[in-house]
Amino acid sequence: MSRSDLQSTRFDHEVLRVERGPRSDVAIAVAVHSTQAGPAIGGCRIKSYPDWRDGITDATRLAAAMTEKCLLAGLPHGGGKAVVMDPGNLHDVDVRHLVLEDLADVITGLGGTYITGPDIGSTPEDMDAIHQLTGGLSFCRPEASGGSGNSSNATAQGVIAALVAGGEHVFSTSSLSGLRVGIIGYGSVGSLIAESLASRGCTVTVAEANQQRRDDVEAAGLEWARGDLLEEDLDILVPAAVGGLLSPESARACRARLVVGPANNQLTDEGVASILHENGTTWVPDVVASAGGIIHAVCREEMGLDEQETASRVAAIGATTAEILAESRDVAITPQATARNIAARRLKEMA
Ligand code: PHE
Repeated sequence: MSRSDLQSTRFDHEVLRVERGPRSDVAIAVAVHSTQAGPAIGGCRIKSYPDWRDGITDATRLAAAMTEKCLLAGLPHGGGKAVVMDPGNLHDVDVRHLVLEDLADVITGLGGTYITGPDIGSTPEDMDAIHQLTGGLSFCRPEASGGSGNSSNATAQGVIAALVAGGEHVFSTSSLSGLRVGIIGYGSVGSLIAESLASRGCTVTVAEANQQRRDDVEAAGLEWARGDLLEEDLDILVPAAVGGLLSPESARACRARLVVGPANNQLTDEGVASILHENGTTWVPDVVASAGGIIHAVCREEMGLDEQETASRVAAIGATTAEILAESRDVAITPQATARNIAARRLKEMA
């Protein structure tokens, strides 16, 4: 299972559909990485890209990560992803509806092999529209429409479970109290993690590209970072913005001993996992730490579990994290490689 997809000679995905939506004139890419364990799931990312090729790369890389995410979370699904390349006019409700209609056609054309969900830039209302247009192929509609609603809280809970397990592994303590934590990204998930960590007695510093969120950060009693948190003297770093934060250079410069966060595709390339490992930084693979939202959606909407049972499935991310970190220490390979081995084993068990 390779995640370097476009850089490799082998096309690892089952399907990649790219089109300029006939109604909206907006570019859409939908990647289905694997349906081996069940229909592919993955969010719909609505974002501007400097180059349309970057949107395709994002779709394929994120779809492959979703396959691992589902396997490691024990969900009977494969990975997919939809990317809508925002030309800058998708806040206009009419244009937005046209692009959702175009996207719905692509999803319908995949015949149930791909079910979408929320991701950066897409809302529960978007999921509602897609659900209606596709006859049910989306997760996380608003609760009022019969869906499981916003998945941010469950994603944050999953990250906290991974943080606690990571903290036990690295600092040999089950309490995070007194630790210095830097959070990069104060969006819907990052802000919830920040609050939860502050209430556990951590010293929390937030770095956020959007200056307008500074008041919110300070009103929550958190410190606004002056510079780049990557090189700051921290115990824990939480990447909670878009991916690609950890490059070979930043991994070498990183001073935090533990890195855990909800951002997808945190590493710019596979080699970064080894650099972090050699640098003495324990990195909990993003595919493990970020699974809370999807676990919540599938448990609630597909498996019919109640909130309590669902919360315990989300909390099980802690046990998975502990398993990966222990195995990684025992066999002296990176947590990334360990997670991949476990995902491959799970796939075999399912076959
Ligand atoms: N954006 C979510 C993720 O990356 C995808 C998701 C899909 C979440 C379906 C909830 C439900 O994991």
